[in-house]
Amino acid sequence: MKSPTIESESYVLRPFETSDAKLWQQWDIDPEVQAFMPEPFNEPQDIEEQYKYIEECEADEEGYFWSIETKDGVTIGTTALTEFNDYHGVANLGVVIGDKNYWGKGVATEVITALVNHVFENLNIFSISAEVEEGNIPMMKALEKVGFKQDGLFESARVKNGKRINVHHFSIVKQ
Ligand SMILES: CC(C)(COP(=O)(O)OP(=O)(O)OC[C@H]1O[C@@H](n2cnc3c(N)ncnc32)[C@H](O)[C@@H]1OP(=O)(O)O)[C@@H](O)C(=O)NCCC(=O)NCCS
Repeated sequence: MKSPTIESESYVLRPFETSDAKLWQQWDIDPEVQAFMPEPFNEPQDIEEQYKYIEECEADEEGYFWSIETKDGVTIGTTALTEFNDYHGVANLGVVIGDKNYWGKGVATEVITALVNHVFENLNIFSISAEVEEGNIPMMKALEKVGFKQDGLFESARVKNGKRINVHHFSIVKQ
């Protein structure tokens, strides 16, 4: 679906551009960035595959996808609302700050806050969920600061590095 541009105080969420694809080629295979993303780990992708991914995202009837840009025009990550279900009014949130220079500076907290506010004000969505692998403390903290609550634990729900791990389920409900 066509993603609207959303602004927070310091960042802009904008639709993907082809120039983003080169950054994804780095972030997709950075072990630190991928540490808490679901396996299997990404294989290096050539640029044409990344362009195809942009087209697939634009065509996805159940997803909104954004690049996160600073107000100076530096692209630092991506965020998405997927599994968008208009009937039930639910969607699933994902965030990746691919540029590690921006970790721990409140980017995720600010961006998720702006996204949640936009969604609850403008879309037919009443509950947004997020799944977080065990150990991903920064993501859990960011979600809790925005107002998400942990409402479930999927025990042994994924495999990571050959071991079974738990996945924490968070959600925020429109008041
Ligand atoms: C998880 C991620 C989105 C967090 O983004 P961020 O912009 O760094 O998050 P914020 O700065 O808004 O908030 C992170 C919080 O965790 C804290 N934190 C960061 N690293 C931490 C660590 N190793 N241990 C404990 N707390 C930590 C920060 O201090 C901050 O809390 P505070 O404001 O109370 O100090 C980012 O690290 C990332 O993109 N990681 C790779 C992809 C990923 O894991 N995405 C989520 C998949 S579910």
